[in-house]
Amino acid sequence: MLREPLPYLRRFPNTEGYYGRFGGNHYPREVWPALEELESAYRALRDSSDFQLALEKVRIGLQGRPTPIHFLENTTMEVGGARIFVKREDLNHTGAHKINHCVGFALLARQMGKRKLIAETGAGQHGVALATAAAYFGLECEVHMGATDIEKQSSNVGRMRLLGARVVAATAGQSALKEASDSAFHAYVEQREHALYAIGSAIGPHPFPMIVRDFQSVVGQEARRQYLSLTGGVLPNHVVACLAGGSNAMGIYSGFLDDPEVRLHAVEPLGNSGQPGQHAATLSFGSPGTLHGAQSVVLQQEDGAPAQVSSVASGLVYPGVGPEIAMLHDLGRIDVTAISDEEVIGTFFRMSRFEGIIPALESCHALAFAIKLATRSPSTEGILVNLSGRGDKDVDYVLSNYAVEFGQSPKATVRR
Ligand SMILES: Cc1ncc(COP(=O)(O)O)c(C=O)c1O
Repeated sequence: MLREPLPYLRRFPNTEGYYGRFGGNHYPREVWPALEELESAYRALRDSSDFQLALEKVRIGLQGRPTPIHFLENTTMEVGGARIFVKREDLNHTGAHKINHCVGFALLARQMGKRKLIAETGAGQHGVALATAAAYFGLECEVHMGATDIEKQSSNVGRMRLLGARVVAATAGQSALKEASDSAFHAYVEQREHALYAIGSAIGPHPFPMIVRDFQSVVGQEARRQYLSLTGGVLPNHVVACLAGGSNAMGIYSGFLDDPEVRLHAVEPLGNSGQPGQHAATLSFGSPGTLHGAQSVVLQQEDGAPAQVSSVASGLVYPGVGPEIAMLHDLGRIDVTAISDEEVIGTFFRMSRFEGIIPALESCHALAFAIKLATRSPSTEGILVNLSGRGDKDVDYVLSNYAVEFGQSPKATVRR
């Protein structure tokens, strides 16, 4: 008898934690027992109806799921071409998609008898989401953050502290997300007996990319159902997400990976010039390498050390991508593009003025690309964007660095 093909999400990773030639566990042997403990606890719980019911309860009550899909009517009318829809992950409690996997990790930690959550954060969205989940589940929380980001995202630092988290400054190197990840993983190795590492994206050694993807897949599953019901059974032609490690991208892609007719797009930060050190466009300019315990695609210097990276969006300042994203790119399943800081700021103003939505600078990368894509696509097509977070955290920074008039200048108009 012929067996039904396994749906995509159950085919990857393989038993060693590989996605094609990417992934695995490249951390020192002393951490392996902790990662094996995590994997077996997760695999046992993931199919348990009690665990799924408890997660659903938190998703509805604390998080505010399901988040809606919204048609960007004004933008579509203005730019013409394909219709643009957004999955409103900005409407999650705490303002971004990160809470989708934070509540999952917190529930997992409690079931495993751990009393503390440790993580890194870039823009602070993951840190706030984790501090929230820790407060709800009565767990301690320690968040590592680059000193540069602590300064830039001070409102999120205040929120984390208010929620009871300890914020640890990472001061090495560029004092940004990569250094925060190094510092957090180091802390986890020391405290692994009683702590769980709740990684901020679909990165790191196996089983983290799989766990983050699975918890984020709620976005894609919901989006697929909602989109089909909005359009009377027609799938989107394009699904678009901004990309750092890949948690929001894998989240929304999850709903469409078994639909080869749906094009998946990843949008990377081109920064202010696209020159080496001035961007964080890993898939566009990177090469195979090892970062944070996994084989993936990495932006690296000639000596193999991770390259300097930069973007106006702190949450995208990371010199790598998750291994599953690297594999999907290798297979030609994802199209990659890069968007400059200038286009991002233009989109921030445009969305605020004409849609009444202030998006996170990270999400503005995806929106800016979707607008360009719409102008060159027929009006019969549909584009679905993961609006991964809201821009409240960015308002002070944007207003003090870019005049409001920038939003009306020719620079902010759409480039086809
Ligand atoms: C709102 C928002 N979107 C996207 C990202 C990028 O992360 P990822 O690629 O894991 O979705 C971040 C990271 O902080 C974020 O805060």
